[in-house]
Amino acid sequence: MSPDGSRPAPRATPVPRIAPLSLRGRIGRAQPKGLPVVNLGYNELPWGPTTRVAEAIAAMAGSVNSYGSPGCDSLRAALATANRLDADRLICGNGSEELLDVIGRTFAGPGDEILISAYGYIQFAMVAARVGATLVKAPERDSATDVDAMLDSVTARTRVVFLANPNNPTGTMVGLDALERLVRGLPPEVVLVLDLAYGEFAGFSHCAAVHDLARGFDNVVVTRTFSKAYGLAGLRVGWADCPPAMLPALYAARGMGSVNRMAQAAAEAALADIDEVHARVGRIVAERERLASALGGIGMTCLPSATNFLATCIDGAGPEVTEALVEHVFEDAGIVVNRTREDGLERYLRLSMGTEAQNDLLLESVGRFLAAR
Ligand SMILES: Cc1ncc(COP(=O)(O)O)c(C=O)c1O
Repeated sequence: MSPDGSRPAPRATPVPRIAPLSLRGRIGRAQPKGLPVVNLGYNELPWGPTTRVAEAIAAMAGSVNSYGSPGCDSLRAALATANRLDADRLICGNGSEELLDVIGRTFAGPGDEILISAYGYIQFAMVAARVGATLVKAPERDSATDVDAMLDSVTARTRVVFLANPNNPTGTMVGLDALERLVRGLPPEVVLVLDLAYGEFAGFSHCAAVHDLARGFDNVVVTRTFSKAYGLAGLRVGWADCPPAMLPALYAARGMGSVNRMAQAAAEAALADIDEVHARVGRIVAERERLASALGGIGMTCLPSATNFLATCIDGAGPEVTEALVEHVFEDAGIVVNRTREDGLERYLRLSMGTEAQNDLLLESVGRFLAAR
């Protein structure tokens, strides 16, 4: 109330330009039995840094008063050598998530369309929301990208097409021939982003073939990350292989210091430890096949996965049973997994491959849940 007793006029408040987006609820409470919590919900690797990476981080600790290289020069050179690419086509970012955002902001705005596959990675929708573009979703076939449906969904307003292949949250992927059809079928002024965040789990040679395909086109970008196969999710390093003409605008949109000094050193060390990276990817892929088969044996169906996670559902059960299973594995075994909430995928939950012991724990806990139904 003001001194004369009248109500003050309501004050104006700032209005966000970006549509609000509620974050997915995740289990945040303490584990009721006091068990250690195992997070199989973020598609991370279950192991800590390799010795080389740990040493690189320790060695950098004494010089964090200095900025890292804004152009990540040494890391780009190492990436180019490791992947047989041209360093002048590469840009690094604070995780590939930043680069997806940078690409969206550089090429799309209000009134434009950003095209994705129906169950495409959630960040693509967030990028569209941030830039004010209309998100267009092309239908999938058997929970996998249908490139012909994507091509049919292109309009004169399409500016960017984002495709995670393999995809998150389904884990499914389409082959090179389909990718080639998409690349060749898109108008040359539409930017195509081929997100290979999980590419190493589909095969290092598959990743190389995607870069080879992209190199022939001035509108195709390939994004990669150190967060998954390289196990550096917490350090935030991603990179993109881009047509060189795009790079000045992408750097302008990205800002100077987005990849910190320690992260650059650690990523370079991870590249030097490539044998260990290959071994870890091999263990994850073997576990993925073991779990898919074991889950299949106890009444669950998994989508075919080319990643380090499985999207799986209980045969004949609805989303409420999936939700109960997500709660059960946390209460029973301290394991965090996520139910997928995308329209059409509500019956699924997504779980990342842990260590062999963690995966056994999960299987036993799921088995107890299913036996009690
Ligand atoms: C398909 C896909 N792309 C990109 C990312 C972003 O990863 P990061 O920002 O850690 O590189 C993720 C993370 O989960 C992902 O699932």
